[in-house]
Amino acid sequence: MAEPMFRTPKGTHDVLPEDHMYMTYIKKAVRHRCRQAGYKRIDTPMFEYRGVFERGIGEHTDIVEKELFTVRGSKKEGEEAEFALRPEFTAGICRSYIENGMQQLPQPVELYAIGQCFRHDRPQKGRYRQFHQFDLEIIGLKDPSLDAQLIHVVTNILQDVKILDRLTLQVNNIGTADNRKAYAEAVKDFFIGKEHQLPEEDRRRLQTNPMRVLDSKNEDTQILLKTAPTLDQFIGDESRQFHETLLEYLEELGIKYVLNPRLVRGLDYYCQTVFEFWDQSTGAQNAVGGGGRYDGLIELLGGKPTPGVGFAGGVERMIWHMKEAGVTVPNKDQVDVFVAQLGPEAKKKCLSLISELRQLGVHTIGALGEASLKSQMRLADKFEARYTLLLGKMEVKEGTVILRDMKAGKQKQIKYEQAIPQVTKLLGTKNLDTYVLQDHMGEAEVDED
Ligand code: HAM
Repeated sequence: MAEPMFRTPKGTHDVLPEDHMYMTYIKKAVRHRCRQAGYKRIDTPMFEYRGVFERGIGEHTDIVEKELFTVRGSKKEGEEAEFALRPEFTAGICRSYIENGMQQLPQPVELYAIGQCFRHDRPQKGRYRQFHQFDLEIIGLKDPSLDAQLIHVVTNILQDVKILDRLTLQVNNIGTADNRKAYAEAVKDFFIGKEHQLPEEDRRRLQTNPMRVLDSKNEDTQILLKTAPTLDQFIGDESRQFHETLLEYLEELGIKYVLNPRLVRGLDYYCQTVFEFWDQSTGAQNAVGGGGRYDGLIELLGGKPTPGVGFAGGVERMIWHMKEAGVTVPNKDQVDVFVAQLGPEAKKKCLSLISELRQLGVHTIGALGEASLKSQMRLADKFEARYTLLLGKMEVKEGTVILRDMKAGKQKQIKYEQAIPQVTKLLGTKNLDTYVLQDHMGEAEVDED
């Protein structure tokens, strides 16, 4: 094959139909579990004012420092580089909570979102520049039972897509903002006189965001850190109590977890509960999802002090696990009927036949070109159609049609009027792909994006 003129930009990929089957399945599980738990769907813009992320996620986090995709407005409007593509949902959802006065609603407000996020990361396996997250947020009330319920909804989703047993839930409590401030000071103090042993980047981090020194990949830094104070020494009683209660609730709900005192997460807005779902074999690398409590975020973004807790899962990483685990998903793109024809009269009749079949929920395709019947039959085979309806000059004249069962390789001539009733009977009325919009909770599921 010739080299294509254009390819997808680095770190991005097409979601091809075979992956969409997985994506649809995941989205269904998310929608279903969220609806059961009273979450409502929200979509925020794919880009926001940069400040939403800078203030929200933290100016000195990797996500904001290195990974924001800046969007230029038009020069004329003076909007140059004022925007950024969303690297995650939480900050935008909290902006929306404030902007739309959601504090007036009964609390907590439970919201979920599914969509693309963008991070200008160095692309590697499981790490893309455009990827999908599903995101759950509970805003407006603070209680460990909310953290537990959120985690429960997430474990149900992961269970529904059959990957929960490949993952471990890592949980920690990183204390209040004050606890973290005190700890950050202690880390700074600890490194006094040792700065020269640190690489340039860690020295800089020590000034801007001392907690991030803990994530350093540098070996010298890691050796020094072995004797550094640990965060759990700074956690107050209130946080300890909160954490213990959360763990009791998780046990009550039968949720398995691993306590991980080193788990801190890379976004500044967290306090108290933090958690991640790790791949059992690779650990921290390529977590399938993560979340935690962010009681200070809404205030940081200009709202009244309002607690919140949330989670986001990485859809591509989930699909990878599903494939690895051999999870099969229903393929709803099957072709039920292929309509073959020959001659101008037959062609005309086929148009309405195809349209009626589709209307009834039969997946129907017809190559209405000028190819020979033989090559149309070959095409029907390639599309793996279950049945073929064949209409030649002769059949038009006789008012008949040939119905062929492609798998059995058998065919019969039937009256033209019988074509639709016979096909729908063979497929079974419950297998028809009908589309019903309902204005109340009904049986039919409306396929949203
Ligand atoms: P996060 O840990 O930054 O948290 O991202 C959540 C998940 O998104 C990750 O565990 C991973 O599966 C997926 N993900 C992140 N970056 C990439 C990437 N470059 N390529 C592929 N997948 C990726 C958050 O985003 C928080 N907003 C979660 C949250 C919600 N906390 C409270 N509410």
